[in-house]
Amino acid sequence: MSSSTIKSETEKASSSQDPAPADSNINHAASIEYWSSKPSTHSTMLGELGEYPWYTRIDLQGSKNFLTKVRRLVPSLSGKEKFKLGADCGAGVGRVTEGFLSHVCEVVDAVEPVEKFTQVLKDSKLKQEGIIGDIYTVGLEGWHPEKKYDLIWTQWCVGHLTDAQVVDYIVRCRSSLAENGLLVFKENLSTDPQNKDMYDDEDSSVTRADAKFKQLFAAAGMQILKSEIQTGFPKSFDLLPVKSYALRPKV
Ligand SMILES: C[S@@+](CC[C@H](N)C(=O)[O-])C[C@H]1O[C@@H](n2cnc3c(N)ncnc32)[C@H](O)[C@@H]1O
Repeated sequence: MSSSTIKSETEKASSSQDPAPADSNINHAASIEYWSSKPSTHSTMLGELGEYPWYTRIDLQGSKNFLTKVRRLVPSLSGKEKFKLGADCGAGVGRVTEGFLSHVCEVVDAVEPVEKFTQVLKDSKLKQEGIIGDIYTVGLEGWHPEKKYDLIWTQWCVGHLTDAQVVDYIVRCRSSLAENGLLVFKENLSTDPQNKDMYDDEDSSVTRADAKFKQLFAAAGMQILKSEIQTGFPKSFDLLPVKSYALRPKV
């Protein structure tokens, strides 16, 4: 089962037996090969749950609600106007941009390492309309932003980076945030009983524990403005918890 969706109890148990840090298993070439072998569709981005339209609806609505709550916490962001420039990081074929970021940002740049996915973005109506801006075909570990962003949205993809790469990525994002800019992560959480990160060799990714995320954010000089567990997914699907974190530079 894809790392973007459910892991069974058996998979969770076996991941905690491995004494090596989970991220030491990450192999970028294997991840790219995995994703390149998948169809360039919105469903692919959600693994086996992609066939359920409610899943993406709940996710995108949850993101909109979360961002609204975060904006209320920052007086200069509390208006209704759109952010000038956003970035969809680990964008896939643009599911998040199409269903959410394009409604809250005037222009959205996209960062995604799989060429067949960025081709979909390049051919899209949103690109022709100028709502999708620059498209970078590169992994987040190799992205060096050269602009100032009001919102950098990173969803269901940092599991492909090692811990050190996540910290470096956040540090680079921190210096490319506009004044009052936000960096958001929305990722699955590990449910390992010993609070360990879980490695998935299917797509060569790691699902991190909440404590690990907090440690990486702090190491990169960020503070959590707000965090929230995504609600609304049916219990019967045994999904891993999904958590959003809105980050600002530590003052
Ligand atoms: C589960 S999909 C999520 C896509 C999109 N964020 C969404 O929610 O629809 C994971 C994405 O991470 C991308 N990915 C793989 N390795 C990556 C890396 N090193 N940096 C950034 N993204 C990566 C994959 O190509 C894929 O598009």
